[in-house]
Amino acid sequence: MNKIAQIFQTLDYGPAPEGPEQAIAWLDSHGRKFGHFIGGEWTKPGKTFSSDNPANGDSLADITDGTAEDVDAAVKAARAAFKSWSALSGYERGKYLYAIARAIQKHSRLFSVLETMDNGKPIRESRDVDIPLVARHFYHHAGWAQHLSREFPDAVPYGVCGQIIPWNFPLLMLAWKIAPALAAGNTVILKPAEFTSLTALLFAEICERVGLPKGVVNIVTGEGDTGAAIVNHPDIDKIAFTGSTEVGKIIRAATAGTGKGLSLELGGKSPYVVFEDADIDSAIEGLVDAIWFNQGQVCCAGSRLLVQESIEERFIAKLKTRMASLRVGDPLDKSIDIGAMVAPIQVERVRDLLKRGAAEGAVIYEPDGMVPAKGCFLKPALVTNVSPANTLVAEEIFGPVLVAMSFRTPEEAVALANNTKYGLAATVWSENINLALDIAPKLKAGVVWINGTNNFDAAVGFGGYKESGFGREGGREGMGAYLKPAWEKTLKAAPVAKAAPAKADNPLDSGHLDQTAKMYIGGKQARPDSGYSRPVHDPAGQLIGEVGDGNRKDIRNAVEAARAALGWSTTAAHTRAQILYFLAENLDYRRDEFAARILAQTGEDGAGEVALAVERLFAFAGWADKYDGAVHNPPLRAVAAAMIEPLGVMGIVAPPSRPLLGSIALIAPALAMGNTVVLVPSSQSPLSMTDLYQVMETSDVPSGVINIVTGDSVSLAKTLAEHDGVDGLWFAGSAEASTMVEKASITNLKQTWTSRGLYYDLADRRFEGDYFLGKATQVKNVWIPYGA
Ligand code: NAI
Ligand code: MG
Repeated sequence: MNKIAQIFQTLDYGPAPEGPEQAIAWLDSHGRKFGHFIGGEWTKPGKTFSSDNPANGDSLADITDGTAEDVDAAVKAARAAFKSWSALSGYERGKYLYAIARAIQKHSRLFSVLETMDNGKPIRESRDVDIPLVARHFYHHAGWAQHLSREFPDAVPYGVCGQIIPWNFPLLMLAWKIAPALAAGNTVILKPAEFTSLTALLFAEICERVGLPKGVVNIVTGEGDTGAAIVNHPDIDKIAFTGSTEVGKIIRAATAGTGKGLSLELGGKSPYVVFEDADIDSAIEGLVDAIWFNQGQVCCAGSRLLVQESIEERFIAKLKTRMASLRVGDPLDKSIDIGAMVAPIQVERVRDLLKRGAAEGAVIYEPDGMVPAKGCFLKPALVTNVSPANTLVAEEIFGPVLVAMSFRTPEEAVALANNTKYGLAATVWSENINLALDIAPKLKAGVVWINGTNNFDAAVGFGGYKESGFGREGGREGMGAYLKPAWEKTLKAAPVAKAAPAKADNPLDSGHLDQTAKMYIGGKQARPDSGYSRPVHDPAGQLIGEVGDGNRKDIRNAVEAARAALGWSTTAAHTRAQILYFLAENLDYRRDEFAARILAQTGEDGAGEVALAVERLFAFAGWADKYDGAVHNPPLRAVAAAMIEPLGVMGIVAPPSRPLLGSIALIAPALAMGNTVVLVPSSQSPLSMTDLYQVMETSDVPSGVINIVTGDSVSLAKTLAEHDGVDGLWFAGSAEASTMVEKASITNLKQTWTSRGLYYDLADRRFEGDYFLGKATQVKNVWIPYGA
């Protein structure tokens, strides 16, 4: 063997340790014991627990386990600070955010080292990824603060925000939460994760140093109970959570009916799709970042490799070679690839999952080589020989474990990629731009990376579909998530619907069973499954007709029809607009008949309502091809196309009043954006909408795009809320029923809007705009390589 080759054989890495001295000095300066940061002051440490270094098990400091009283004190401090903070000009708030960004940059090495010691992630990552992105986030939002009133006219901050974050990106998640909240004028109580609170405490000191007004940022440390005390505190206006789907669902249920704003950024099982024409070496390097970045403890980790069968063998062989060169060890060593897992319990969790997967038939490969005997270290692992049902394919592992499967055709790749309850991120590798851009829109995920992975930027929204949660962080969408329309505060209670003074109807007595209006499902008139009808009365209590009494089965059929009609979402916006215009025109043509029907049901002159309904259809026909996305320019060789996508199938339960407009005002924006709809019209006055299907049939509305199920609003809403095939649900009705709807929606974490017993005057032209368009859509950011 010649000499150079020999040298390559024996070449090893020398140690390149980053010194911990500064971080230790900072910890010592606090006596290695911390209270909370509340109202700009440090509280006396209470009952404490240790924050450990997972690489060696050493205790770094004792931190306080926050009590409900601590949380209450923090909420009071945040409330007291809110008035003057929100009254500052955007420029003034922006200057504070800028000062924070500068201070973080100035102390970036201290932050990086402390983060690595507390969390176990390689210093290379905390130094080059986490902390620079933190600074970038504060810079970006300094700009938003200043331009807020121009860009979000008539919007106001929520008030006091409770923010709960996980341990995988401790300071970065803090930045994602605090920067937009402060830019918008909110004040915050943030709880870091119990394993990793130290950089949040260092951040609190930065807030002190830059002179941030007291109470604007409060940091309360603690465990799950402390988080729950924040979630349940009555004087908090919005909860923002990042963490497990399990806890996300608990929080959704706990906040139901409270009117608190809510954003949830939860787990994932993101596909990493490699086509046969991909640049394989780049795809392998991407994969290393996708799954072994931060030991795989990444919500958007590319943890499911889907590789085209024709290259599978070669790809897996290369991957194994690459895995063998990954270095696991001391996270403070600058040439380490994989550091320590955050805590022993996470190591156990991953080991248990691997055992379960193996018992179900998975083959697990780990490269040779050593990991340190002490500390929370795991080797990178590759799992093959799995079916989609294997635990390792279905569950979020949150560790350095890649699961590989193969596919034959692009269709199969899409089907496998979407075969998950999650929808956070996805990656596509192909040198064929047509193929990549054909696949990206078909992936049900909030972020799609093409020929790259794990790209993040403050200007680009991030967040999930399906059980990965809702709401976005970063970008315009993320900024908007900390604001609400000023008029929402002025809403009054909805008048309680007068029950019609009906005489007891003998069911056999109506004598005009032939006049029972049918339901409308999949483009066909449908009789109710129950075989029962409901009477419809005029205000004097006179029977004026009957409708089907819909039940669970009818909803199921309607949802099935709506799912089958989802081709509507990819129908050209221009075409959707044409159909809505046509519907409006045909409704207008029959305005007298519809006006008479409104009069019969409500006793009110219906002409005005019909005219408004026609106008509303026009308004949203006009929006169909205008409410669209943006192209962002992150500081990378890429653009991010922020695409506006429909939620999918929407359940819409219309308010009792305004039998025609009440339904039209809600279905028009949903349809314009490409959703298909299961509508429950007013229980009291359903005949205007059952009349409408005749108009729909003459207006080219495709079968299944609008389905109408009549019956009891509340029980049908419950069925819709519990149905996994429904992606979004709007409910106009009582506060009590709204709470029920929000609680029942946790099965698949569908997005909900409820009126909570408040009166939304749907005749108001403010509802012709983006209020409902925003709620009918979600943003998908597609990262595309661009520029030299
Ligand atoms: P977790 O969801 O329990 O913790 C996240 C945060 O929520 C922490 O600050 C915690 O103190 C807080 N929390 C816990 N219970 C709460 C409650 N009832 N109310 C309010 N706040 C509460 O996650 P954990 O237990 O640390 O990790 C378990 C698994 O969850 C991981 O193995 C991983 O699969 C997943 N996970 C996913 C994350 C993601 O970003 N997708 C982040 C963290 C964990
Ligand atoms: Mg720790």
